[in-house]
Amino acid sequence: DWTMGGFRETQIARIREQVGSGRVICGLSGGVDSSVAAVLIHEAIGDQLTCIFVDHGLLRAGEAAEVVKTFRDRFNIRLVHRDASRLFLDALDGVTDPEEKRKTIGRLFVEVFEEEATKLGGADFLAQGTLYPDVIESVSFTGGPSVTIKSHHNVGGLPERMRMRLVEPLRELFKDEVRALGRELDIPESIVGRHPFPGPGLAIRIPGAITREKLDLLRRADTIFLEEIRAAGLYDAIWQAFAVLLPVRTVGVMGDGRTYDMACALRAVTSTDGMTADVYPFDMAFLTRVSNRIVNEVRGINRVTYDVTSKPPGTIEWE
Ligand code: XMP
Repeated sequence: DWTMGGFRETQIARIREQVGSGRVICGLSGGVDSSVAAVLIHEAIGDQLTCIFVDHGLLRAGEAAEVVKTFRDRFNIRLVHRDASRLFLDALDGVTDPEEKRKTIGRLFVEVFEEEATKLGGADFLAQGTLYPDVIESVSFTGGPSVTIKSHHNVGGLPERMRMRLVEPLRELFKDEVRALGRELDIPESIVGRHPFPGPGLAIRIPGAITREKLDLLRRADTIFLEEIRAAGLYDAIWQAFAVLLPVRTVGVMGDGRTYDMACALRAVTSTDGMTADVYPFDMAFLTRVSNRIVNEVRGINRVTYDVTSKPPGTIEWE
């Protein structure tokens, strides 16, 4: 019979056979696929694996620290954490076009990844969390570019350029199977059950130019929204949920005074593959609770809206 425990053992044997005494590097994003790939490969070859986590400064609040804590401290995986946020934010300064944002981030990501790989003295293999749907289509199951280094950052040339062979132990699995394997490997639920998150991160949730101040506002609103979703027990019923910072100021009243601050939109959808999506039907009491908390706790945001557009015709992300 096919079991996840059996799959784990078979893959470990295969990885050992493929890699021999070679060295492997793996790009870690904090997402499910790269996390499961990294832990599985680490179980097979231990310190022959080094993970590279390129932190572009566009993650949610607390996520970078969680990646480091989980993989370095809990799993004892060799991990290079490169905080490249200044580099990315400087390059994105004044960039407003969504595709231009993606290109800038993708290009820098490859540069920084290569730089770190070179510092390590290179490697024989590049590990990726490629899934079966990534194999059969060139886009991932999410309908956007996949969360593997290769496609989501459009760096198909990376392994060839660096003369590395690929290690892709999840190639036969679907997303739900990867999650099951992650649980089998004792990866924390906060990572295994995590919603998909786009490679360009919060950059595509701030329409218009990105600034550190806007990133800070967005992170705080987003944290409150997700906190309330978890507290209400709704996280697992939702495909993706996030806040978007709107590039518009509107008038409000606070105490005796008038405010003239930014607005944010909340987005939450259900979906099975990201190709189509329905709006999550929160009750109004939930939405007003989130709205009150954001407006009261995040100085700089004075209005909250809920995006009720399905996909199609909308997309999940705003950019
Ligand atoms: P859209 O907005 O196209 O998103 O409905 C569908 C899914 O893809 C994700 N997405 C991306 N993922 N790089 C990624 O890695 C991207 O540039 C990107 N754009 C969208 C989105 O979060 C959703 O899961």
